[in-house]
Amino acid sequence: MSNVNVRENAKKPKKIGVLTSGGDAPGMNAAIRAVVRSAIFHDLKVIGIKRGYDGLLSGDIEEMNAHSVSDTIQRGGTILLTARCPEMMTEEGQEKAASICKILSLDALVVIGGDGSFHGALELSRRGVNAICIPGTIDLDLACTEYTIGFDTAINTAMDAINKIRDTSSSHERCSVVEVMGRHAGFIALWSGLTGGAEEVLVPESEGKTKEEVIEQIIENRAKGKKHNLIVVAEGVGGSASLAKQIEQLTGIETRATILGHLQRGGSPSAVDRMHASIMGYTAVQCILNGETNRVMIYKDGKHASMDLEQALAIEKSYNGEMYNIIKILAI
Ligand code: ADP
Ligand code: F6P
Repeated sequence: MSNVNVRENAKKPKKIGVLTSGGDAPGMNAAIRAVVRSAIFHDLKVIGIKRGYDGLLSGDIEEMNAHSVSDTIQRGGTILLTARCPEMMTEEGQEKAASICKILSLDALVVIGGDGSFHGALELSRRGVNAICIPGTIDLDLACTEYTIGFDTAINTAMDAINKIRDTSSSHERCSVVEVMGRHAGFIALWSGLTGGAEEVLVPESEGKTKEEVIEQIIENRAKGKKHNLIVVAEGVGGSASLAKQIEQLTGIETRATILGHLQRGGSPSAVDRMHASIMGYTAVQCILNGETNRVMIYKDGKHASMDLEQALAIEKSYNGEMYNIIKILAI
């Protein structure tokens, strides 16, 4: 752990809030459960806040007990509901949200979400709220941690869909273009491309191949005897329908595009997601009990830990081309 912020003369915490914000992710419920149960175990009161920052601003809250989270560890989505909240992007909204946390006497606010939600939490921390963050996003796009809750379930869903598309595409000797989620990040595309045996993966972080180069490659592959070509496109690159049309026109190979969309965000969380969610939820409460402030739960080098929120958000995301190179070598 680096730079642990501990409240001077910290009084024993009594009450915390928990919310989920931004895109939902499988495993968010397991994280809420872990926060609620760990807190109650240590005699903390827990306020569940509905619809992320929206519910904080409108006071849509309820006290939670150990039974509030019964039968939820296996459920996708979030029992607290989630939302994107434009008001929280404004200074007035942030001031109001911070003063509501004070009125509610929250000793900490646990925010389960992605990069945007963490920026909201950072604004609250600058206004005196103890913001404790748990990474929950299928995108894996937080540079501070090697794991974000929901990613494993999402890539398994994407891989399973790719397997099914491959069956029918191979039978028809077609080319398939599969668009996966990730508006700003290509992790889902790279992982599902590698595990689904893709010939090409297009991601937003790298210019990569042009559409013309992809088409040339498909023609070469056909000449080498490949019966089926799979092109995985990240949502942030987009244009999968028009790419499919172009491929068909220029190669003469029948091509179909499939946009997997929100089915990647649903479903019962995998064991990996439940494990990380449970440990991160538990660790978040430990941080609060230790008097630590403004922390992000992280998974790094095989260990769970926490780090300072501001420092966590300052880490630059870097694109690792290694996985792309492996995909290309394995696709010969
Ligand atoms: P995610 O948390 O999954 O990345 P979003 O980027 O949509 O999802 O962010 C979720 C919410 O977090 C936004 O709707 C907004 O309320 C809040 N948020 C995002 N960015 C900021 C910011 N820079 N400052 C304050 N709040 C933010
Ligand atoms: O939560 C992340 C994410 O699923 C991105 O991969 C995707 O671009 C975005 O959310 C979709 O958001 P919405 O549900 O608002 O369409």
